[in-house]
Amino acid sequence: MKNTRLAPRAAALLGAAAFAAAAVILALSPQSASAEQPIVIKFSHVVAPDTPKGKGAERFRDLAEKYTDGAVKVEVYPNSQLYKDKEELEALQLGAVQMLAPSLAKFGPLGVREFEVFDLPLIFPDKDALRKITNGPIGKELLAKLEPKGIVGLAYWDNGFKVMSANRPLKTPDDFLGLKMRIQSSKVLEAQMKALGAVPQVMAFSEVYQALQTGVVDGTENPPSNMYTQKMHEVQSNATLSNHGYLGYAVIANKAFWDGLKPEVREGLEKAMAEATEYANSIAQQENDGSLAAMKAAGKTVFHELTPKEKEAWIKALLPVHEEMASRIGADLIARTQKETGLVP
Ligand code: LMR
Repeated sequence: MKNTRLAPRAAALLGAAAFAAAAVILALSPQSASAEQPIVIKFSHVVAPDTPKGKGAERFRDLAEKYTDGAVKVEVYPNSQLYKDKEELEALQLGAVQMLAPSLAKFGPLGVREFEVFDLPLIFPDKDALRKITNGPIGKELLAKLEPKGIVGLAYWDNGFKVMSANRPLKTPDDFLGLKMRIQSSKVLEAQMKALGAVPQVMAFSEVYQALQTGVVDGTENPPSNMYTQKMHEVQSNATLSNHGYLGYAVIANKAFWDGLKPEVREGLEKAMAEATEYANSIAQQENDGSLAAMKAAGKTVFHELTPKEKEAWIKALLPVHEEMASRIGADLIARTQKETGLVP
């Protein structure tokens, strides 16, 4: 009798015990839902998917998922979908996103001015000269300067050399007089536009097309891939193939996030980054060539090649920017860079 009366309660207890045991087994099991949750990397950027950076980010996503056996899931957010230029750096520092690839011209507001050495007009005669910096000690030193800001520098990705555009021909510095030119948030780019006689205006990348269309600014500079994928050629009647400056990226991650990863996961991501970097840098030139060809075919913009005499006038106007920026970036850094790139013997 006694046993019978206790039976329902014992059964309930047994049921609870079985439930608890099952929960423990589930929690410890490698098949459990929580153990299977991948680590999510939000990779935000401001350009179109169909650009050197956009394609590099997608290649990194695919390789990262492969080399970590699905332990990491990378979500790529292009076209300022999540954040504009300035906000994305703040979001990275706060940990709202884990990875970015901002242009090297956008680190000044973060307090790392030295990256602006990449913006100096005419500092890189070609890509080989640029590689000496990005693959050499200077490139490494610059990335290390991000660490006190809670950021890890992972790689340099190319876009390319810039063209200048406006709604009038830009053949000599005189043609820039009084033009409102949109720039990225770099003091070197500000000095560059002033040296040409223009009025620089800092503006987020996502706002440039509309600003050009409505006449808030008159012109801008960017490599062909950005100009074409943002349709800027539809609202700029003239562009000069000046190659006066370089635009590239630092791929960066939130340091606390990166350092907190298990070593084997981080190794997988580093391998993915090395391969994605090689890929991004191998396609950048052809992406820009393709965009330029497409804009020429669209026939909305007249593209001008500088004559030797015009080139001379640009050089005369732009080279003094190097000296002017010495107190901001560091005379020593500029001199070392000029030596590495062969600009000065
Ligand atoms: C710009 O703002 O003009 C570019 O840096 C955008 C980009 O990321 O290429």
